Amino acid sequence: MHDPNAVLQDKVARAEAGGGAARRERQHAEGKLTARERVELLLDEGTFEELDKLVEHRCLDFGMAEQKIPGDGVVSGHGRIDGRLAFVFAQDFTVFGGSLSETNAQKIVKVMDLAMKMGAPVIGLNDSGGARIQEGVASLGGYADIFLRNTLASGVVPQISAILGPCAGGAVYSPAITDFNVMVKDTAYMFVTGPDVIKTVTHEEVSKEELGGAMTHNVKSGVAHFAVDDDRACLALIRELVSFLPQNNLEDPPVLKSEDPPDRADEELDTLIPQETNKPYDIKRLIAAIVDDRHFLEVHEHYAPNIVVGFARLGGRSVGIVANQPAVLAGCLDIDASVKGARFVRFCDAFNIPLVTFEDVPGFLPGTAQEWGGIIRHGAKLLYAFAEATVPKLTVITRKAYGGAYCVMASKHIRTDVNFAYPTAEIAVMGPEGAVNILYRRELQAAEDPVAYRKAKVEEFKDKFANPYVAADRGFVDEVIQPRDTRRKLIAALEMCKHKRDKNPPKKHGNIPL
Ligand code: HXC
Repeated sequence: MHDPNAVLQDKVARAEAGGGAARRERQHAEGKLTARERVELLLDEGTFEELDKLVEHRCLDFGMAEQKIPGDGVVSGHGRIDGRLAFVFAQDFTVFGGSLSETNAQKIVKVMDLAMKMGAPVIGLNDSGGARIQEGVASLGGYADIFLRNTLASGVVPQISAILGPCAGGAVYSPAITDFNVMVKDTAYMFVTGPDVIKTVTHEEVSKEELGGAMTHNVKSGVAHFAVDDDRACLALIRELVSFLPQNNLEDPPVLKSEDPPDRADEELDTLIPQETNKPYDIKRLIAAIVDDRHFLEVHEHYAPNIVVGFARLGGRSVGIVANQPAVLAGCLDIDASVKGARFVRFCDAFNIPLVTFEDVPGFLPGTAQEWGGIIRHGAKLLYAFAEATVPKLTVITRKAYGGAYCVMASKHIRTDVNFAYPTAEIAVMGPEGAVNILYRRELQAAEDPVAYRKAKVEEFKDKFANPYVAADRGFVDEVIQPRDTRRKLIAALEMCKHKRDKNPPKKHGNIPL
């Protein structure tokens, strides 16, 4: 007799088997987990609620009518991360190489629409051969449907992409629009056109890894924000990242209980900034000394390391940190650093995450490469991003704040709420040497002893301008603080800004210099 329960069980079993044991084994042999294993690790245990498990493709060409696997190459649904709702889709490489069919795209679109409606993050686990070749334009249309959702969801719910296998052709543009891309070393690669096409067109020979592997996109292109060793590390990292974020743009990030005393002073900070103004130091040591439990989740660690961005907590509250790094290029702002900083600032502003800026910047990086590459346009992105941000903004000038970079790095003038400076701060139009060269060019030429003359003038300039007190006198700096007190001061400032309300003039959208 016909057993309805058995029919269901059979369909479920076929869906869960994916492309079958052999293909699952191949996935494991390549050091990859299957889509279902990944979803289980991403979400709190036992919380995954699957949707569309029995969806099948509708393609009749190329013998496809006889090849149907329930679920059709993507596992999708919702669950919890640390008890909070999250939507997920995971491409199943064991089914038609995880390729995107019309129905497979509809499944992804469904979870994206739900994520928007329910106000929860959407996490895409990418491992796919791209458009389902047998379906042609129906598949391409599916991609476009996804890209539209990515765009509409941008700034509404956090969108995170993991790349855990191939991600090629137009398929790269969904991760590209999302907020963060995590790539797994050795198994993940992303490119618009692969090595073979490149060889035909430009005669360049390049391997898949070199062209679009995890480190290529973390170090060179900046397409990826994180590089991890394997799938497990990838999924753990996404869980941690989500812990800093609100569920959507109408909520604040979660506040965690912190055992780290808010008034903890750190004497190391009093001597961390070298007396010699050109001597480097590691800004990450300063960040660690200040934030809760010394824990800092760095974003874009390998890209443009002359600026450091990432998440931390102060008094249990999430903050986005943007800091010049004097240990790399003396902390100069260049094209890559400006773009990296701007994107991070805009993410934090979109999702109500207060910004804490640590500033030690001698200016923009000089050179024809930078000027011809458009440092004017790209530097303006960072300026624009800080200026339009209405979240609480706090700045600490640790040492140099020179020229245009002073204005850009969350200065008082672009609506920063609280601006601190250390006694070592030097806030001026330019460094003393450069200033003396311009101001006293004639005198230096005429001087009997130009070296001594220059030295005297440099000292004079330093005394007058290379300090925080001219700015403090104007109120451009609210307080000059002892470095050891930074944590206490920032937490008090955050508390003051807790209910901050500020907004920009009504407009369709601004025109950031892209
Ligand atoms: C249908 C696909 C597929 C695809 C792979 N498969 N890609 N089926 N459509 N796009 C199937 C294979 O036939 C195979 O089926 C299984 O998935 C595993 O593929 P393999 O080739 O055996 O795996 P591997 O050697 O690891 O190579 C993976 C790969 C390769 C590099 C991704 O499969 C590949 O080059 N695929 C085509 C990639 C591509 O050109 N896609 C279109 C890109 S353009 P069996 O039955 O043997 O297991 C694009 C446009 C998007 O995506 C536009 C958006 C705007």
